[in-house]
Amino acid sequence: MATDPRTDPTRHGGRGHGHARASAPPAEARARPDGARTALAADLRAAVPDGLAALAVTASVFGFLFLRVRSGESATLEVMPDLADAGEYWMYWLSQAFGWAGLLWAYLTVALGLLVAGQRPGRLRVSPRTLERWHRTTSLNTLVLMTGHAVMFFAELVRYEAALGWGDRLLTGFVDTFVPGGYSSGTGRLAIPIGQAALYLAALLGLSFYLRRRIGPRTWRTLHRLVVVTYALSVWHTLLYGTNVWFDGWPRTTLWALQLPLLALLLARLLRPVRRGERLGAGAWPARLATGAAVLAVALTMVAVVAVLATGRDGGRARPEPAPAGALTRTASEGDVGESRGS
Ligand code: HEM
Repeated sequence: MATDPRTDPTRHGGRGHGHARASAPPAEARARPDGARTALAADLRAAVPDGLAALAVTASVFGFLFLRVRSGESATLEVMPDLADAGEYWMYWLSQAFGWAGLLWAYLTVALGLLVAGQRPGRLRVSPRTLERWHRTTSLNTLVLMTGHAVMFFAELVRYEAALGWGDRLLTGFVDTFVPGGYSSGTGRLAIPIGQAALYLAALLGLSFYLRRRIGPRTWRTLHRLVVVTYALSVWHTLLYGTNVWFDGWPRTTLWALQLPLLALLLARLLRPVRRGERLGAGAWPARLATGAAVLAVALTMVAVVAVLATGRDGGRARPEPAPAGALTRTASEGDVGESRGS
């Protein structure tokens, strides 16, 4: 499938750029005989203030990114200098802004969920009920923001392919953005399917809450635990493909560092869950094994993040040396860019 060279970082610089028994529905679900659709509609209404805050954050990030491109300071331009016209590529900056707001809201959603299911710090004076309500509204808005990110990327691809007919523009943009394997060049071959997996999994797992009476609370809870995988995929996708965190430096290091509090909450949730049946050593051996493996994995991840912070080796690409006057330019992040920009 065709790719847009201007929107593929690789081409411009990268190498290959509750608590219910299984049989009985939870009390809350019983109190809503009118079903999942009504519950979803009520949560969507409750999510409006949070959604407005999310849009305000997105707009601020958009303004920040736009001004950085206009002033020539954006790291994205070091990866893709052809995008220097801030006005022309506004949809691309908006896609980036939705991505960052989506990641922030995903972070908040996971943190709130872990606080609901694990022991809360004593100083936190918010009731579990309120935390759970916030968790539901932020999760819905996370989905909206993630979708906005992908849709604006799609819109930019469609705009860019002006030479094609509308049918081809829409089809190409759709396949590149939404179909796994459709985006066929550079780092995007891996990074975009990871983003798609995060988006589709988030939609499936987030919205399954409203079907929990049909699928059964136990199945739902098991599925819901996978949400943390969605978040991990989102961070991985960002570290792999985000041009604003493409190079070594404090923005990328900060992104790594911010994962530590979340990992600590996850560890606390595993070691001291609210539900007795989930405590370490409780339940049948497969459950005990799974919890033990999860504790080990989280602890090792924390050690890895600390090592990244201590050594500064965060997987960022080295910034290119300024070319000596008169030399042919190899503008690029990784040195080996003959394939993408030519020297
Ligand atoms: C269909 C799914 C997705 C597609 C097609 C997609 C596409 C992209 C592309 C092309 C970039 C590179 C932009 C750049 O920095 O130049 C990017 C970066 C990014 N994506 Fe995604 N993405 C998807 C899913 C997600 C999800 C689920 C998240 C989670 C919130 C996410 C968050 C981000 C973030 C934070 C960046 C960094 C933006 C920047 O550097 O300014 N993406 N994505």
